[in-house]
Amino acid sequence: MRSLMVVKFGGSLLKNLKAQDKFLKELAQISQKRKVILVHGGGPEINALLEKFSITSKFVKGLRFTDAKSLSIIEMALNGKVNGILTSGLIKNGANAVGISAKDGKSVICKQIKQLGLVGEPIEANKKLIKNLLNAGFLPVIASIASNALGDVMNVNADTLAAYIATAFKAKTLVFLTDVCGVFDKNMEIIEKIKVKAVNALIKNGTIKNGMIPKIESCINSVKRGVEEVWIADGTSGIKKIKGTVITKN
Ligand SMILES: Nc1ncnc2c1ncn2[C@@H]1O[C@H](COP(=O)(O)OP(=O)(O)OP(=O)(O)O)[C@@H](O)[C@H]1O
Ligand SMILES: [Mg+2]
Repeated sequence: MRSLMVVKFGGSLLKNLKAQDKFLKELAQISQKRKVILVHGGGPEINALLEKFSITSKFVKGLRFTDAKSLSIIEMALNGKVNGILTSGLIKNGANAVGISAKDGKSVICKQIKQLGLVGEPIEANKKLIKNLLNAGFLPVIASIASNALGDVMNVNADTLAAYIATAFKAKTLVFLTDVCGVFDKNMEIIEKIKVKAVNALIKNGTIKNGMIPKIESCINSVKRGVEEVWIADGTSGIKKIKGTVITKN
């Protein structure tokens, strides 16, 4: 089987149209040669839509607290808007992209994290739908909405979802494209390589915070579970020549 690459496109990059265009063009090219799954968030689009409904979000360690009203708006932003933009952009560039969310085909089942409201943590993957899409030559574009075993819809952090999918599908490569050039140290210099065991201290001393916390934790989980190449990468450099921080086991 051709090696699988899972890419998480940060919602933070949606405001940078140049970066988005470059990424879509390059990812479409890569998908002609290897299997690709794209997972996306949608932070700014979600915030903009929530603002229109006069809702402000609380964040707990970089994760958005989600009530029922916010959830329907988040679904609108992710499934309705961001997923459509990325899927059509890829199709325009010649890729066989198909937009879904993680709840479709019960692809990812999650367990509610009650202190975060209607937020779920992935606990089970049903690989049939995504596997069939990949084997038929499609590029699945997956929004970070999943459901629990009863089918109740939940918001899932897109980084957590990307890592879970990368592990479940035994991806070789996992790249988190974001709006910074990688992980910064205290002096705002890029750390080129971070070992798993060094991460806790960086979180504890406040070097890694906010949205970078679920991202680096997702990296650790996937590296530990056998994904060979894991990157937090500069979204403006594209996906062909990846630049940023590599997360390694040792
Ligand atoms: N040590 C650090 N190095 C780099 N960025 C950091 C660090 N600590 C916190 N951050 C923040 O993490 C942000 C990236 O995470 P964020 O969740 O905002 O983006 P994303 O995951 O790409 O987008 P989305 O959550 O919408 O999918 C950066 O813009 C930066 O402000
Ligand atoms: Mg994020």
